[in-house]
Amino acid sequence: MINFSGVSKHFAGKAVVEELDLHIAKGEFTVLIGTSGSGKSTTLKMINRLVEHDRGQITFADEPIEKFRAQDLRRRMGYAIQSIGLFPHWTVEQNIATVPQLLKWPKAKIRDRVTELMTLLHLDPAQFRGRYPHQLSGGQQQRVGVARALASDPEVLLMDEPFGALDPVTRATLQHEIARIHQLSDRTIVLVTHDIDEALTLADRIVLLSEGKIVQQGTPLELLTQPATPFVADFFGRSDSGIKLLALTRVGERLRAGEQAEGEPVTASMTLREALSEFVARHTEQLPVCDEGGKPLGVLHFSDLIDVGAKP
Ligand SMILES: Nc1ncnc2c1ncn2[C@@H]1O[C@H](COP(=O)(O)OP(=O)(O)OP(=O)(O)O)[C@@H](O)[C@H]1O
Ligand SMILES: [Mg+2]
Repeated sequence: MINFSGVSKHFAGKAVVEELDLHIAKGEFTVLIGTSGSGKSTTLKMINRLVEHDRGQITFADEPIEKFRAQDLRRRMGYAIQSIGLFPHWTVEQNIATVPQLLKWPKAKIRDRVTELMTLLHLDPAQFRGRYPHQLSGGQQQRVGVARALASDPEVLLMDEPFGALDPVTRATLQHEIARIHQLSDRTIVLVTHDIDEALTLADRIVLLSEGKIVQQGTPLELLTQPATPFVADFFGRSDSGIKLLALTRVGERLRAGEQAEGEPVTASMTLREALSEFVARHTEQLPVCDEGGKPLGVLHFSDLIDVGAKP
């Protein structure tokens, strides 16, 4: 769906992205990660032509991106950023409706879509749709930013640290939402983050950048278990990689079907890492597991967490 071939970008004569080869398949969730200044945001912005590359070729849907008008690209690609960029004199509703308005959707359809997205992102429409950005907390503003990026149901979603300003709980909720949106709609998503756990949880593929170059790309499991260089191993941190591996496996993959146990059930889509926290919080060695609809599925045993690394 999106291809980079030998792509470079220079600012003031200095390469900030160098000879990048990147293939982003349709429906794939790609996470760009790396240290500050490694070229993540520049790479993302080259996709929707907020930044023009100066060497190599970028294609979208098999066409060189120069063939698209920048505004058309931006309508087909939702874009959400940490600094949010909401229009200060527009209400939440108007902000979310930016692209549908440009696309001249009927009023009622826009209104319904805004309601739907606000509900999805846990912003009570009745309370918030008429507010202005300065009347919202930072985390609420970020959610409006994500809703705006999703509004026209774009084929591609580009997100640059969209959850940066959120507390860990809201952040985890939104990560779940994004993961769910991705699974439901099979939308192509490219997300930039500093947060290793976020990358491991969300990504189908991780692309690790350093000084404008790709150091390694692959599945989260590959980067954790087969780091190409000491830099990669260091970056993902050897010390608690066991815990990180837990974040890659869902409860549903480890549960003992048909068994029963006492207590509040956890859902099968929870990661083993989250389940570990539940075991600790509840001082228990067994957790009942249900599906999203509350139907009991079985039991997760604490002892079954342990060989996760050995069974990729
Ligand atoms: N418009 C610009 N003019 C000059 N230099 C720039 C410009 N935009 C980015 N750079 C430089 O390019 C390099 C890569 O920047 P970029 O924003 O892509 O990094 P990043 O990986 O997103 O970093 P961070 O994690 O801090 O957001 C940095 O050294 C930055 O200073
Ligand atoms: Mg950046």
